Amino acid sequence: MLTGKTIVLGVTGGIAVYKAADLASKLIQAGAKVRVIMTKNALEFVTPLTFEAITSNSVITDMFKTDAEHRINHIALSEIADIVVIAPATANVMAKIAMGMADDMLTTTVLATDSPVVIAPAMHTAMWENPVTRDNTAKLVKRGFHIVEPAIGRLASGGYGPGRFPDTEVIVGHIKMVLGQNSDLAGKRIVVTAGGTQEPIDPVRIISNRSSGKMGYALAEAARDRGAEVILITAPTALSKPVGIRIITVETAVQMKTEVENAVANSQALIMAAAVADYQVAEVASAKIKKESGELSLKLMHTPDILAEVKGNFLKIGFAAESQDLISNARIKVEKKRLDLIVANDITEEHSGFGSDTNKVVLIGQDGMPESLPVMSKREVADRILDRVCRLMNVQPKT
Ligand code: PMT
Repeated sequence: MLTGKTIVLGVTGGIAVYKAADLASKLIQAGAKVRVIMTKNALEFVTPLTFEAITSNSVITDMFKTDAEHRINHIALSEIADIVVIAPATANVMAKIAMGMADDMLTTTVLATDSPVVIAPAMHTAMWENPVTRDNTAKLVKRGFHIVEPAIGRLASGGYGPGRFPDTEVIVGHIKMVLGQNSDLAGKRIVVTAGGTQEPIDPVRIISNRSSGKMGYALAEAARDRGAEVILITAPTALSKPVGIRIITVETAVQMKTEVENAVANSQALIMAAAVADYQVAEVASAKIKKESGELSLKLMHTPDILAEVKGNFLKIGFAAESQDLISNARIKVEKKRLDLIVANDITEEHSGFGSDTNKVVLIGQDGMPESLPVMSKREVADRILDRVCRLMNVQPKT
């Protein structure tokens, strides 16, 4: 979604400047055009050459410089920016923006732009917690600036607390979310499930499956980036929590059912990518089962079928993880679970199904017509599913 977007990256003077180089690099890798403005203080930490090499663009450091490279009108970047990102943002630059000052290229660009502005502060905890900075931050939020809360951790000064520059992926998540806020799913609430549920045998052991959660997380992030309010109900996974999404972590199918039922009220769609266990242990042992000679038998009983049982006025999208008769089995699930759409997932295909970064699926609506997609990244699959969700909502997809 960053492909072709013009991102003006304002870099101000703090020790985290070197991390902004990684941010610029990730944005370029994602297909964005990045124009960097460095403040005078930022130049004390790194030279413009770092950002010029990463972005293949000249870096603006001075409003009044007149060489050919920099012959740029003082508000030109404010006009071409799809978004302005200030990272790292010092307390000083935040104060200037809050006051409406425009005494250098960065603050002038911010004052002149109609585009959204994302600010990622990084500073010493005492400066971040100072009432003046708190007031300035509140003022900026009130005026529509988007603040990425600094991370909590060890600071360059040796202290520990809030003020660390957030991870690159967190800032990129915020940029995508802000860019997508008026997209095709704006105003819609979508519930997504992800991961493999864990059914306890005893306090130590579980029955689970190989779902990594990647497909569900990709769907949640794609829906967020298209403007939806997303609730992600997830079984335990090793994935990092995406920003801008309400996350509810559950373990068992029964817990997932309760959370799904709560979440779907006032939602427009439920997308169940989770691999929900079909069986749970009938009697969970309260103490660890001791190893003894001979066999151990466990009595299993059905878990609730969440997708089949959940009711309400929203679109129901299911997945079908199949190792044989993909299309016919998926069609049966559309009927049985009364689905608007099913994502038939051939889990025997290479680079598809559980754990992989890619997936190969067939989309089948209520008319039974299969739409076969080639092997794609799970994010691309997610966007194709959301295109179908848009059409089911009578919304023209923007991708
Ligand atoms: O997580 P990844 O590693 O990225 O892998 C992705 C995936 C393979 C898990 C995903 O693409 C997928 O296919 N998810 C559905 C897995 C599954 O449980 O399929 P199923 O055919 O058993 O179930 C059909 C549908 O009913 C699914 O939407 C499932 O969420 C739902 N279900 C199943 C059982 C149950 N008790 N309640 C349910 O709601």
